Amino acid sequence: MRVLVGQFGGPTAVLNASLFGAWETLHAAGAEAVGVRGGARGLQAGDWPLLRGAPPDWLLTTPGAALGAGRQAVSPAEVGEVVLRLRGAGVGACLLMGGNGTMGLARALADAGLPAAGVPKTIDNDLAGTDHAPGYPSAAAFVAAATADLAADLRAMAGFEDVRLIEVMGRRAGWLAGAAVLARRHPEDMPQRILLPEVPVDPDALAADVAALHRRDGSVLIVVAEGVCGRDGTPLGLQALDATGDTQVLGAAGGRLAAELRRRLPLTVRAESLGFLPRCLGSAAVGRDRAEARELGSRAAEALLAGRSGVMAAIAPRRDAEEETRYVEVPLHEAAGRERPLPPGMRDLGPAFRAWLLPLTGGPEHRPRSLP
Ligand code: F6P
Repeated sequence: MRVLVGQFGGPTAVLNASLFGAWETLHAAGAEAVGVRGGARGLQAGDWPLLRGAPPDWLLTTPGAALGAGRQAVSPAEVGEVVLRLRGAGVGACLLMGGNGTMGLARALADAGLPAAGVPKTIDNDLAGTDHAPGYPSAAAFVAAATADLAADLRAMAGFEDVRLIEVMGRRAGWLAGAAVLARRHPEDMPQRILLPEVPVDPDALAADVAALHRRDGSVLIVVAEGVCGRDGTPLGLQALDATGDTQVLGAAGGRLAAELRRRLPLTVRAESLGFLPRCLGSAAVGRDRAEARELGSRAAEALLAGRSGVMAAIAPRRDAEEETRYVEVPLHEAAGRERPLPPGMRDLGPAFRAWLLPLTGGPEHRPRSLP
């Protein structure tokens, strides 16, 4: 059997481990793995290189997307054409790694007659059907450690810098920004506030809150999810990437909120961003995350080899936070095209969220301390 294997959307620190798992399993079964270069672009262009032999070990430890990923979409009208061409090239099934849009594409391919399976992948963790998605635990561990270190830095600068805002990726869900809560040693510790996309921000109320926190603590660290919205539900951070304004991405929320605070408060306010680091810092990859990514790639390949289609290899909800990872298969339609926000019961980032998150990240990293 010839199986097409592709990586789609933004990469993660462990996406290549999923490629390794899928390729290794196909190779061991005597199947032929064919890659897709550059995600949707390569899928449409017929850029499908043969993946010869066994997968190289470096895939297990290298961030990014070794095949190339990309964010272009494949329209429903194009799916039928793609399936015909794949069939013509002797491809009998396809395995797609990605987020909710990619699971939608896998489902469309399966519906158009090409057996398809999915492997979850997103640092945003906004994918339904799985307890968490590979890429998220490593990104979350990085966000927690970076926030703790930035808090120590800000404490050192007290008196010069009053308020610091740190923007964190995560699209329209607060899973990733919420991970900054692990940087707090005590409930009243830094970061004093974490602004989530699920909870609209009112600049006047925020300014009053920040003024009070500054009076109490001397300096204020606020983590801002890139998808935070104003009272009308519009993301504050949308920005255009080119002069036409056609390509819009999130990424300006921290700067815009800093400007709102400066207008209202006689304080120094600075905004910065963790940028792409949470999704590309291979050195921060968590062992559990890497192992799960590899296993899910392998299980999706096994499903296809056994003749199962329309499924996503997934991680079962953890009833006990300390429990080992349990793998399941869910129908693609559970994940396709759906966004999973942080559930209302976890939006306080309290014990329920911490208990769910801690085992994934390997626990709190090193915590900077100050002398009494
Ligand atoms: O989905 C992964 C992700 O890193 C999001 O957290 C973020 O919104 C996006 O991709 C960043 O990529 P771009 O700036 O291309 O939208």
